[in-house]
Amino acid sequence: MKNYYLVCFATLIAVLFMTPRVSADDGEVCVKCHKAVTPLLVKDWQSSEHSANDVYCNECHGSDHKSKKTVHLVQFPDEATCGDCHEEQFEQFAKGKHNFGWTSLNALPIIHLEPDELMEGGKGCGGCHNMGIKSEAQKKELRDKGYCYRNNSCDECHTRHTFSKKEAQDPKACQTCHMGFDHPQWEMYESSKHGERYHMKERGRLPKDAAAPTCQFCHLPNGTHTNKVAWGFLGVRLPLLEDKQWAADQTTILKALGVMDPDGKPTGRLGAVKAVDMVRLTEEDWQSERKKMIKTCKKCHSSKYALGELAKGDQMIKKADRLMAEAINAVAALYKDGILKKPKHYAYAYPDFLHFYQTGGSHIDQVLFTMYMKHRMRTYQGVFHANPDYAYWYGWAAMTKDLDQIKEMAESLRDKPK
Ligand code: HEC
Ligand code: HEC
Ligand code: HEC
Ligand code: HEC
Ligand code: HEC
Ligand code: HEC
Ligand code: HEC
Ligand code: HEC
Repeated sequence: MKNYYLVCFATLIAVLFMTPRVSADDGEVCVKCHKAVTPLLVKDWQSSEHSANDVYCNECHGSDHKSKKTVHLVQFPDEATCGDCHEEQFEQFAKGKHNFGWTSLNALPIIHLEPDELMEGGKGCGGCHNMGIKSEAQKKELRDKGYCYRNNSCDECHTRHTFSKKEAQDPKACQTCHMGFDHPQWEMYESSKHGERYHMKERGRLPKDAAAPTCQFCHLPNGTHTNKVAWGFLGVRLPLLEDKQWAADQTTILKALGVMDPDGKPTGRLGAVKAVDMVRLTEEDWQSERKKMIKTCKKCHSSKYALGELAKGDQMIKKADRLMAEAINAVAALYKDGILKKPKHYAYAYPDFLHFYQTGGSHIDQVLFTMYMKHRMRTYQGVFHANPDYAYWYGWAAMTKDLDQIKEMAESLRDKPK
């Protein structure tokens, strides 16, 4: 009996290894019917490298569905399916910041207070934060809510079903997500000299070999799929900086991010921030990313030039933090003195940036949030992306205006009869 099972098992293994993963005949069946069902989708696929290399529909979607009645048996490929054939890109992607997009979104308290269509449904925050390999638990949560699509991050830059390399090399591939309110990198880049030269080159106004860096050239150099920068999105660092005033200002910001409590002690949120690598936690980590960036600038500029330009970005974070801390302290004092009441979702009677505009109705808190999330971001991101207008008018100038407004509002709130 034992032998019988052994033979069966051996035969099964042999069959599994001998037959191709899927059959091209099955693939032809899909294509034939789908030429009528989704004609332009099939055309897309036909123009792809996949089609040229006989990677049929069933390689990614399985062969269980072959009729109208069996549509529910279709499989949707996750990143690991692509990784079966593109291991290098999969491994690189897994090590980068994009791989944290979904998890960092889900770590924020705000998302449980907003319409789900905009979160897990993928129409707002979740539309851009689909980036990242989902855990089995995250996938189950989506399925249970009836969301069966968006299982893949690779098609965020290589859209289906062309899955083109050229598309992903174009800065436009980043635009949908890297634009707008708190990270207008597309707008900043496009109107900087770097972006302007790129467009001129595309139009044939500059020679084909003219130097014009793209987002990819600076952030995914040499075809890597691992992305990370020195400062990171929040523009704060741990351990704190040597400059005493700057360290104090960054501490104030960390309190408003809820990573430290109002007394300056680390909170549970610090763990969540660490888990998705939201801030660089060691000097070495920060320096290593900075060095990589300088190496990229040096392909076209002198190192002296590049170092100087990036140092200006760091200095602008420092100067923006001075304004920011002053504003946070002014609002925090209103909470402390009982003039503002603690909104019910807040952990402390202290501003909480990670609740975004859900502040329980205090306008001054909302101006403070805009100052941080919109204007502070633009100030230093504008400098790093060589965009004068974003750095000044949409950034620094707006911050100074916010600060004055906050001070004025704080004064009149204090004067208001109880
Ligand atoms: C006899 C026709 C027919 C054949 C053969 C066929 N399909 Fe389909 N397929 C359909 C129809 C009809 C739908 C539903 C389209 C709709 O929702 O408008 C569909 C839907 C799909 C979907 C989308 C499912 C969803 O939930 O959105 C995928 C993916 C798919 N087919 C892949 C395949 C693959 C892979 C094969 C081959 C193994 C295949 N199809 C073979 C008719 C067919
Ligand atoms: C290289 C892998 C790959 C191949 C090959 C492939 N698909 Fe897809 N397909 C995807 C991915 C990725 C998605 C998006 C999945 C998700 O949203 O979870 C998708 C989604 C779909 C959808 C549903 C979404 C929509 O836009 O309507 C249909 C229908 C579909 N594929 C049909 C096909 C057909 C037909 C073929 C063959 C002509 C094919 N696919 C070949 C990867 C592939
Ligand atoms: C069964 C193997 C297989 C699977 C699965 C697969 N690919 Fe491919 N892919 C290939 C082959 C073969 C080529 C063409 C040769 C090459 O570039 O390696 C290719 C090429 C590509 C290219 C380069 C296209 C170009 O314009 O040069 C991209 C991008 C790509 N695949 C993305 C994906 C993504 C994203 C997925 C998952 C949704 C995926 N592939 C799934 C086999 C596969
Ligand atoms: C238009 C696309 C888009 C939308 C909408 C969006 N985000 Fe983001 N988000 C991004 C991008 C791009 C970054 C990285 C920006 C950077 O580093 O400058 C980011 C960064 C973040 C980060 C920091 C991650 C880290 O580890 O550095 C968090 C947390 C976050 N977003 C949460 C949210 C929440 C919550 C919402 C909705 C209220 C939201 N995002 C809406 C694109 C988006
Ligand atoms: C943030 C955008 C982005 C995402 C997400 C992305 N790619 Fe790419 N991919 C690129 C860029 C840019 C290139 C071109 C690299 C170059 O210039 O050599 C590329 C190239 C490729 C190539 C062609 C490699 C070659 O040299 O021919 C493959 C295959 C590929 N990617 C697969 C994947 C897979 C698999 C995933 C998901 C795990 C993925 N990509 C996710 C941007 C992206
Ligand atoms: C589908 C939306 C989407 C697209 C497309 C996209 N990104 Fe992102 N990107 C994000 C999100 C979301 C984050 C924040 C991830 C996190 O939570 O850590 C991010 C983060 C980044 C970061 C910040 C890394 C850090 O250390 O904080 C860089 C750099 C970046 N992306 C570059 C690019 C480039 C270059 C492209 C185009 C080739 C691109 N991205 C395309 C959504 C996108
Ligand atoms: C000439 C090189 C260069 C180009 C081109 C470029 N960037 Fe950047 N980017 C930088 C530098 C430098 C930083 C700051 C790095 C640091 O923290 O030290 C940065 C930072 C970022 C960040 C993190 C911002 C933050 O809040 O800390 C994102 C996201 C990003 N860039 C995306 C893009 C996108 C998308 C494009 C194209 C639309 C682009 N970049 C074009 C050099 C470039
Ligand atoms: C692929 C080549 C290339 C790379 C890489 C590159 N640059 Fe440039 N950069 C240029 C060119 C060309 C100009 C236009 C020079 C001019 O204005 O005459 C320029 C312009 C600039 C300007 C704007 C000058 C102005 O007058 O508006 C700044 C600032 C700058 N680069 C900084 C950087 C930094 C910092 C890096 C690295 C993060 C970098 N560049 C990477 C080619 C490059």
